[in-house]
Amino acid sequence: MALDAVAEIRDRIDIIDLIQGYVPSLKKAGRSFKGLCPFHQEKSPSFVVFPDSQNFHCFGCGKGGDLFTFYMLVENTEFRDALKELAVRAGVTLDVSAAPQPEHDAHRKRLIAANELAATFFSHILSNARQGEAGRQMIEQRGVSTEMVERFRLGYAPESWNDLLNFLTSRDIPADIAHEAGLLQERDNGGHYDRFRNRLMFPIRDRDGDVVGFGGRAMGDGIPKYLNSPQTPVFDKSSLVYALDLAREPIRKAGEVVIVEGYMDAIAAHQFGYENVVASMGTALTESQVAQVKRGSARIVLALDADAAGQMATIRGIETMQDALDADVRPVPDAGGIIRFERKLKTQISVVHLPEGKDPDELIRKSPERWPSIVTSAKPFMDFTIEILTRSVDLADPKQKSAVVQQLAPLLQQVSDRIVQGHYISMLARRLGLEDRLVLAEVRKARLGARPIAQRNGVTIEAVERVARRSTEDYVVALFLKHPDLTRDVVARIPIEELNDVRNRELVKVLRDGAVAELTPEQIVVALDDHLADHAEFLMSTLDGRPEQFPGQIHRESEKVLIKLGKERFDFLMKQLDTTLNTALQEQDAAALQSVKEQIGKLAERHRQFYPPPSPYFLDTRSPNR
Ligand code: UTP
Ligand code: MN
Repeated sequence: MALDAVAEIRDRIDIIDLIQGYVPSLKKAGRSFKGLCPFHQEKSPSFVVFPDSQNFHCFGCGKGGDLFTFYMLVENTEFRDALKELAVRAGVTLDVSAAPQPEHDAHRKRLIAANELAATFFSHILSNARQGEAGRQMIEQRGVSTEMVERFRLGYAPESWNDLLNFLTSRDIPADIAHEAGLLQERDNGGHYDRFRNRLMFPIRDRDGDVVGFGGRAMGDGIPKYLNSPQTPVFDKSSLVYALDLAREPIRKAGEVVIVEGYMDAIAAHQFGYENVVASMGTALTESQVAQVKRGSARIVLALDADAAGQMATIRGIETMQDALDADVRPVPDAGGIIRFERKLKTQISVVHLPEGKDPDELIRKSPERWPSIVTSAKPFMDFTIEILTRSVDLADPKQKSAVVQQLAPLLQQVSDRIVQGHYISMLARRLGLEDRLVLAEVRKARLGARPIAQRNGVTIEAVERVARRSTEDYVVALFLKHPDLTRDVVARIPIEELNDVRNRELVKVLRDGAVAELTPEQIVVALDDHLADHAEFLMSTLDGRPEQFPGQIHRESEKVLIKLGKERFDFLMKQLDTTLNTALQEQDAAALQSVKEQIGKLAERHRQFYPPPSPYFLDTRSPNR
């Protein structure tokens, strides 16, 4: 039974041994063990493992738990997979049949079985059947070895409307299951026909090696070049990584993973012994994919052709990033996305810039020995982006310089480590022949995906005011987010309708929900919609690197910023009223004057609230206006 297995795995695997494999710096310190935390970047060890209780805890990032928790976090797996993999390690057999089998698991298995059988069928056609001749020619012409054909289970879908359908039905796979598995198309009359015809077939396997779908390469210039399985309960492009099942061990050994774009690229790499290579799935790289290949602390290198690399350096709005999925665009994440992955997953992504017109497949087949040096030449993503975007700037044209700074500012703003940020600001400034502080000022102003308010109707007071107030507002919400438990009473008092950023308003509403107080900030973020989660992540990142504070200090701090927010609002309204008052006086508009008077009355109350008169027992010599 599963519970026995859990206990038995606990007995057989010592958490120290397990963790030592991932944290080489782990050393005995008194009764416990200490090392550098694998879940966040740190210079002095705050990650502690307790041999007696077989638990771990990081005093830096707060992560902690038992060996299963550790394994799930470090390998990015779910409990089920952790159980399976640790069982193998412990030499414990999991009695799967005895475990309760949820209905949806059984269904998934049937869909996978259909895909597995289809892979067997396609593979048979490619290797043995007369109909597979075109496929064999293509394999030969592309130089794919027989060993790779076997390892990747390549196959061929014959030029036929029902060969696969007939084969599957003869093996007791009902047509509707095969259809749901993405192998068949449905006719209007309810009948079915083969989805893949006349294509070289690349089975796509999940990280455990189960076939969950296919990519089918057209012969010659057929369209589309690759026909992939549709989204099914087992085939979700955004969470699959091609060749990961084969590359897992090699990635761990090399401490590095190389992500290429095409199935063919990955196969070429493996054929020449570079087995830590995986391919994206023809869609923009997702966080789930990056997290899966990271495997603890592996370096991530993207090897993209020149074209794709150029596109990746572009910065789109948050909105377009979200529907990158499923779109028929180039499989390229954009710069904002990459920086976000880096920040969220605490990792660095480097990019190799391949020579114009070359993809890894061609490169490796032509001169395999060059590959390692190409991979080593990868540059951190930010260096790469700055280089690409500044390369063609005419330094005699100030407008072009300004445009590049505007383009990069939101990206630099997302880099939460101030030292790293400063480094890149200098780099950009140097390349453009500008002073650092000019670039810095733009970076402080910028926001990824923020709308340039001041651009709409010329610059109004309000627009300027909003930009200025944004930082306090963000800071308040960031504090609430990071310490939901400590700031509950303060959250209740925030004037939601006075916040400028809709996302901040939304976040405060979420934080006011009683249920949230029980959650950690991470749990709250996970529960948010993507656009809110992004913003929340950003807000919290702005607090990174602050010195630890006691709960009482945090509470006081939140009270203080709330007051600051109120003061800023007061000053803003006052300034506005001042303008209205002047206009009303100039135009001798009695009605307007009256309304201004009323508003001033209301504001006066606000003034008392935020600038209370000095207490008679305490002579405050500071001026009320800061
Ligand atoms: P490429 O066009 O670079 O394909 O697309 P490739 O794998 O190198 O194939 P060859 O060398 O031209 O034969 C890169 C990846 O984008 C996805 C596939 O995952 C492909 O491997 N793609 C491309 C599609 O899903 N559909 C397409 O129509 C094209
Ligand atoms: Mn190619």
